[in-house]
Amino acid sequence: MLVVVSIGGSVFSSWEIFKKYAEVIEMLKDEHELFVVVGGGKTAREYIQMARSLGASEGVCDRIGIEITRIHARLLISALGDCAYPVPPEDYEGARLASLTGKVVVMGGVSPGYTTDAVSAILADYVKADLLVSLTSTDGVYEKDPEMYPDARKFDSLTYKELLDIVTETELKAGSKGPFDPVGVKIAERSSISMVIADGRKPENLARIINGEKVGTFVGTVAVR
Ligand code: UTP
Repeated sequence: MLVVVSIGGSVFSSWEIFKKYAEVIEMLKDEHELFVVVGGGKTAREYIQMARSLGASEGVCDRIGIEITRIHARLLISALGDCAYPVPPEDYEGARLASLTGKVVVMGGVSPGYTTDAVSAILADYVKADLLVSLTSTDGVYEKDPEMYPDARKFDSLTYKELLDIVTETELKAGSKGPFDPVGVKIAERSSISMVIADGRKPENLARIINGEKVGTFVGTVAVR
């Protein structure tokens, strides 16, 4: 199976988690073709905030965010060692070319105006992925923020349109947060890419999802699972 995996930067709370992801990816790499897109998380938000306070434009803030995502990509590449392509490609064509080496491709952001969620959806379309897995710091998509509303209902499955309604509230500002970037949802819908959004704080979830277990929230043309 060809799988694009988006790992939110908020998941990388310590160096050990890079190591755990490397172990899971190494276990899966012989049977599946994997592309991993890594986010910038808290570190990106802190640097973006500093740049904004210093008067930088949103586009410059985005550039700074992209640099942080690429540093995270380099950390995961370090943990993966020889089985990873040694540098994070800077665009989709570069990612495709890197994958021809047979190595796992790990990259960060690409261009201003969106987030690594959107990058993962564009990449999934570009390489014709069978599945897009988005690993974040919640265990799926909720009707409202589960941290503010403990009674919020979690969805087992959603259509792209339903997910879009949920994420449309997300601010299109450098460093903003939501269950998935709306640009990414539109891309996934356009190419009918099946998605699973699940808890990335448990790296083993990646193996469970690829092995067909029902984990997190499934998103597709029809909300069945
Ligand atoms: P992230 O993808 O990490 O954003 O990129 P995020 O939504 O904060 O995700 P988490 O917290 O990691 O899950 C960090 C910032 O880098 C810029 C954006 O400003 C984004 O908010 N960025 C990233 C881009 O402008 N373009 C890209 O292709 C990627």
